Amino acid sequence: MKIAVINGPNLNFLGIREPDVYGKETYDDMVHIIRKYGEDKGHDMDFFQSNSEGRIIDYLQSCYFKELDGIIINPGAYTHYSYAIRDAIASISIATIEVHLSNIHEREGFRSQSVVEDVCVRQIYGKKIQGYLEAIDFLETL
Ligand code: DQA
Repeated sequence: MKIAVINGPNLNFLGIREPDVYGKETYDDMVHIIRKYGEDKGHDMDFFQSNSEGRIIDYLQSCYFKELDGIIINPGAYTHYSYAIRDAIASISIATIEVHLSNIHEREGFRSQSVVEDVCVRQIYGKKIQGYLEAIDFLETL
């Protein structure tokens, strides 16, 4: 399968930002772990990170033309309020899994709402990097 893994704002700061919440691994460590897991299973893995809403939308739209089989997205804080990212996911008709490193349902109240949840096939949270690996496994079942 051709799979894209998209990470939104502040996820490039993994390892620096609140390690007790998000883990000690850096963004590069995380990409390495996810890439190896996916490639060992025979998938073609593509990674994208941006702190900008528009760039994430441009990348989502490019996924449509690349005919990807699946998308794994952690939209960071945009999860909670970006209708534009939600609409972009809805536009492209590619199975998309929402992943969060932390347990968004047991933190501040604003984090428990996701505006992308209903356009994604599954939401995985609170499993740190393991959540992205489970997302790959789940895409294989579709
Ligand atoms: C996050 C949770 C969001 O609430 C937060 O804004 C993030 C990361 C997570 O992976 O747990 O940036 O998506």
